[in-house]
Amino acid sequence: MSKYIRKYLIAGNWKMNLNAAEGADLAKEVAGLVGHQTLVGVTVCPAFTSLEAVAKVVEGTNVSLGAQNMHAKASGAYTGEVSAEMLRHLFCSFVILGHSERREYFKETDAEVNEKLLTALDGNLKPILCVGETLEQRESGAMLEVIKQQVEGGLAGVSKDKLENVVIAYEPVWAIGTGKTATPEMAQEVHAAIRKLLTGLYDEGAAARVRILYGGSMKPENAPELLAQTDIDGGLIGGASLKASAFADIVGAAVKLAS
Ligand code: PGA
Repeated sequence: MSKYIRKYLIAGNWKMNLNAAEGADLAKEVAGLVGHQTLVGVTVCPAFTSLEAVAKVVEGTNVSLGAQNMHAKASGAYTGEVSAEMLRHLFCSFVILGHSERREYFKETDAEVNEKLLTALDGNLKPILCVGETLEQRESGAMLEVIKQQVEGGLAGVSKDKLENVVIAYEPVWAIGTGKTATPEMAQEVHAAIRKLLTGLYDEGAAARVRILYGGSMKPENAPELLAQTDIDGGLIGGASLKASAFADIVGAAVKLAS
């Protein structure tokens, strides 16, 4: 099945950067550069505190909005947390779940990520489920087992008809923010393995509709080759998403491949 049944998605993960005013400025630039094409999905994921300001800026453009995390429960006594409904109310379409920084610094487990993912789907948010191995896991040969556990764990209980609302992001931990990128061949190998896993868990048709993004030091220079791989359907961009021109160039690379 051709990869072109899937629309490329380029998502910017701003992490804990930019206040609301700065976020609105960046979003304005991004929307100006890539907000009018429709060939490629574009989304920005600011901090919670910038969501409202950015939502106003991107309204009516082809740039959508995502959050970087959420709580699994619908509401209640969870001081400091934010619910799926609160994110939808601010016009979020996506939510990043299980990012390796959350797994590492906040000890999020696959079971917790799964609970959030099911809540997100119920709340009409599209989860971007992040998976990826550490350098140690890659070097010890455990990579595919780790990915399998994270994918299966994250997707437990997701029905076939809901699967196409899930985006998976393969982000090798050793490539995040380090300037080290997986080669296109290394990334493609894991993306193909993830799609095969999905075929086993669901079926070929369902697996073919899931977008699998690559993340980890993606930038304008390496994006064209990464995005050209058969099973790479977009990017989750950290550092380079904080510069409108670099982010727009990555979107441009996807537009060129999709045209
Ligand atoms: P990076 O981050 O592009 O800065 O490596 C990617 C991510 O963590 O999502």
